[in-house]
Amino acid sequence: MDILGIETSCDETSASVVRNGTRILSNVVATQFEFHKQYAGVVPEIASRRHSEVINYVIEQAIREAKTGFDGIDAVAVSSYPGLIGSLLVGMIAAKTIAAALALPLLGINHIEAHLYSVHFDNDPVYPLVALIISGGHTLLLLSESIGKYEILGSTLDDAAGEAFDKVAKHLGLGYPGGPAIEMLAKRGDENAFSFPIVTLTGDRSRNHPDRYNFSYSGLKNAVINQSERFRNPGAEETAANIAASFQKAATDVLLIKARRACSDLGIQRVAVAGGVANNSRVRKLFKNEAEFESYFPAHELTQDNAAMVAGLAYHKHRLGERSDLDLQPKSRLENLVKGKRKTHGK
Ligand code: KG4
Ligand code: ZN
Repeated sequence: MDILGIETSCDETSASVVRNGTRILSNVVATQFEFHKQYAGVVPEIASRRHSEVINYVIEQAIREAKTGFDGIDAVAVSSYPGLIGSLLVGMIAAKTIAAALALPLLGINHIEAHLYSVHFDNDPVYPLVALIISGGHTLLLLSESIGKYEILGSTLDDAAGEAFDKVAKHLGLGYPGGPAIEMLAKRGDENAFSFPIVTLTGDRSRNHPDRYNFSYSGLKNAVINQSERFRNPGAEETAANIAASFQKAATDVLLIKARRACSDLGIQRVAVAGGVANNSRVRKLFKNEAEFESYFPAHELTQDNAAMVAGLAYHKHRLGERSDLDLQPKSRLENLVKGKRKTHGK
């Protein structure tokens, strides 16, 4: 079964054809960071405009590379939430048009579930597992019982993990996106040069603490920005590297602490890590070296937003009989996400 996936939830325009949920026949990703970098963040109006300019070419290229032709496609899947409404709409209109014109089933896909699915292409994950989705827009700790089923354990109370990397990078004058730039600079620094706060929100306190699985990055971000203000002078490059390394340490240590905590509370020994920040080599090393659990990461090219993860997940949803109507609507938020509370989500 060959599924055409479409992804436009934020600032990547992507289309992919995936066979039977496992074999990526094509995965075309048009990034927009050139258009957003002067603003050091994604500008929603620019994102949706750019999506509409390139979407047709991206889809055509994905079909061409997959060598299926449009008539070889069995279903169309599209990220429908969460994301920027204007951006989601572009991909959804394209998906609906193809589904209607070719009389194919349409599947609206949860972008977060799709990120989690991205680990499946290079691993054979055993469920249940704990999942961390860490990107520019999300920091989520999940419990997943099977593909497409999950419960939100915790999320960020303020900035997302990737957003903190981007904002600190902006302050250090490193450009956008900030994560890779911080990682690069950190390689030359001493991560113990500054002791920035590792914000667990709870210390080691009781299991019932409402923030036991939640994150907060704004305090760390401000601590780093305040520290770097003091060193704003020429010749401070070594200091900048030390700041980047020490920030990266604090920002990533907390991810391991929370994942460990969830695993030990729930008696689970497996963690899947996905989203742009899963690219970070310190994160990969921390999790791979962990004795308490096994970890699953996507290939580097599948950590960023891409349509292969959408088409891959859709295969399983399609097998379960899930379909969306042509009046499918985009949603900006993840439903049932209540900060500080455990809420069940998924079908
Ligand atoms: O998943 P993604 O491509 O887009 C969404 O936000 O959905 O994630 C992008 C985020 C950006 O904030 C970027 O700075 C961060 O992932 N990122 C990294 C690294 N590569 C990308 N953060 C830390 N280290 C990296 N190597
Ligand atoms: Zn994403």
